[in-house]
Amino acid sequence: MSEVPGLALPADVADLRLTPDGVLRIDWADLHMPVLRDLRRRFREDKPLAGLRVAACLHVTSETANLMRTLREGGADVALCASNSHSTRDDVAAALVAEHGVSVFARHGEDKESFYRAIAAVLERPPALILDDGADLISWIHTERPEQLEGVRGATEQTTTGVSRLRAMAKEGALAFPVIAVNDSDTKHLFNNRYGTGQSTIDGILRATNVLLAGLTVVVVGYGWAGRGVASRAAGLGAIVVVVEVEPVRALEALLDGHRVLPMSKAAPLGDLFVTASGNKHVIRKKHFNSMKDGAIVCNCGHFEVELDLPGLAELARERRAVRPFVEEYRLLDGRRVYLLGEGRLINFTAGEGHPAAVMDMSFANQALAVELLAKGAAPLPPGVHQLPRDLDHAVARLKLQSLGVEIEELTGEQEEYLASWEEGT
Ligand SMILES: NC(=O)c1ccc[n+]([C@@H]2O[C@H](COP(=O)([O-])OP(=O)(O)OC[C@H]3O[C@@H](n4cnc5c(N)ncnc54)[C@H](O)[C@@H]3O)[C@@H](O)[C@H]2O)c1
Repeated sequence: MSEVPGLALPADVADLRLTPDGVLRIDWADLHMPVLRDLRRRFREDKPLAGLRVAACLHVTSETANLMRTLREGGADVALCASNSHSTRDDVAAALVAEHGVSVFARHGEDKESFYRAIAAVLERPPALILDDGADLISWIHTERPEQLEGVRGATEQTTTGVSRLRAMAKEGALAFPVIAVNDSDTKHLFNNRYGTGQSTIDGILRATNVLLAGLTVVVVGYGWAGRGVASRAAGLGAIVVVVEVEPVRALEALLDGHRVLPMSKAAPLGDLFVTASGNKHVIRKKHFNSMKDGAIVCNCGHFEVELDLPGLAELARERRAVRPFVEEYRLLDGRRVYLLGEGRLINFTAGEGHPAAVMDMSFANQALAVELLAKGAAPLPPGVHQLPRDLDHAVARLKLQSLGVEIEELTGEQEEYLASWEEGT
């Protein structure tokens, strides 16, 4: 842990000399984040977070940096660690410390042990508010720092997997404070999970492999928000998309969207490229790897790499070698080769740059509004998982439309009356 000269700020980042690059990167993202900028202006004046300690565990990217700036402008004392070390931008981490006074504990590529050391460092001082992505920080404070729970006014959770972990905690009565599931806002999952993950996953795959997608059979596992995005973008580039789903309505939707639907055992021998987006464990297992074509490429864009049975794949392999950045070749016993991208971690963050700032603008506007709501504590929420009020979700959409110069229709008085009545019919 290093003391930053002049700031006396506890932090642990790779190299503070990277600050100028980080500043440029953060400013570039900011250019595409007009809604968050607008909130930052208001936070600067209103100081809704004055004197509050915020602990955050998020991807340490330029978009996150702009959220951290917003919280700082709102008066918060902010500490940040990385939800995934492979997405950490060391230049952004440096700039956050040196330019924005955020205590960052994150280095690109750190291992599990230093991941937990960073979580402990962020919780060195008890937080009033928590921002999480995947629920690791929230579960850690419950198990390792229970004495801090009382002081936590609430938390926010960014992603589907985190929300499902927190719902499981709440169901067992183990969640000690309210959490706003930012993921459940329409202006988050409809855009971030679908368009953001869709585009950036394809981007990550192409950066890692430079394959021509047109004509390839791309198997997408899970047709939720993220899977729909990946499938539509792959199809848009000319791929033949096969969807693997367990939920019948979503499988039907995939079919009517023009994709082929198959169980994994039948999709495995057909696919050239496999992308998992299910939020579930071992959706591609040993027997599936064992029936893949020579040269099949496998990657994951779900939150955790457990979507792929990687120990199973390792058992099948007689040799492993890195063949290009982010591409590892597994040679199976019969000589077939399976290529794993980005160690099975979120491919859009490992090989790509994560979501475009324009979608993170909405996700992080939701985060800032959720944090403000919890800080105000005007109508304290009970422990459990909550949604951001609909009017705030809509406010984000309105601001985004405004920033894009798009006007929308308004209901007339007559229409409002009609929609609220039952007398008028056939
Ligand atoms: N890479 C990113 O940047 C990014 C962005 C958003 C979400 N995520 C993560 O992606 C994952 C999916 O998120 P989502 O919002 O699409 O979730 P979702 O719940 O909308 O969709 C998941 C889908 O997977 C299906 N599924 C579950 N088990 C399956 C199995 N064994 N085989 C086939 N299908 C199965 C479910 O029925 C569901 O339709 C989560 O882990 C989430 O945290 C990642």
